[in-house]
Amino acid sequence: IKNETTLMNLNKFLIIAHRGASVQAPEHTMAAYRLAKEQEADYLEVDVQMSKDGVLVSLHDLTVDRTTDGSGIVSEMTLPEIKRLDAGSWFNQKFPDMAKEEYVGQKIPTLQEIIDEFGETVNYYIETKKPEQNEGIEDELFELLEQNNLLDERLPEGKVVIQSFSEESLKRMRTFDSTIPLVKLERDPVTGPDARKRMQEISEYAVGIGTYFEKIDEEYIKTAKELGLLVHLYTVNSAEIAEKWKAIGAHGIFTDNITGVGH
Ligand code: G3P
Ligand code: CA
Repeated sequence: IKNETTLMNLNKFLIIAHRGASVQAPEHTMAAYRLAKEQEADYLEVDVQMSKDGVLVSLHDLTVDRTTDGSGIVSEMTLPEIKRLDAGSWFNQKFPDMAKEEYVGQKIPTLQEIIDEFGETVNYYIETKKPEQNEGIEDELFELLEQNNLLDERLPEGKVVIQSFSEESLKRMRTFDSTIPLVKLERDPVTGPDARKRMQEISEYAVGIGTYFEKIDEEYIKTAKELGLLVHLYTVNSAEIAEKWKAIGAHGIFTDNITGVGH
């Protein structure tokens, strides 16, 4: 991971490690993040949720069922309950070609543990996940980033990016910090004649949009560029698709497969 921040460099095509190096290691574990750093991704993408006892943990699904040996809803479990789970063995069983002994017994990391490990040596692309079910998640996140000096003015712009599907969540982050870059995730991006209007709304609070590459076209990127908005596309796992969107002018991709996209 390069320490200089490249977020707002419009000529740079960012490689964002989606859930870590999640093709080769169990997603959202320290193993997956370490590998993403080794592979020199520009950002570590971290989905964040809050445990019942108010701790920010890194996990995509709202339940632990798919990616651990347990079951239950993350926001209804305490940190000790979450920490008892094995978040790596499922991967070895599901992807025997990628299996490694060290993945057995991987834990769901807290955001603090991730920051303790990597500090300022990486860039973080943090998603507030389901903020409507995690009341106060932005408050906790802001406090944690501040305590860890990750919002310092001396850091390059974009050391930490906050992304969310929730406009409300992004706007709440903005009330705490006036400069942190925000990226609006769009599940159903508005294309065609209404695209510009939608992008103008987004550009009032965010520096960019994260969306599905399958749902947009060249024109979408062009319009975003005219408005000075970044577009980061998910989830791009092949070199061919990465090259195509790079040539069109997208500003980066979320990928599970850092080495596979030609990085
Ligand atoms: O955050 C970008 C992309 O990861 C959004 O989708 O569901 O994988 O978090 P999801
Ligand atoms: Ca995400």
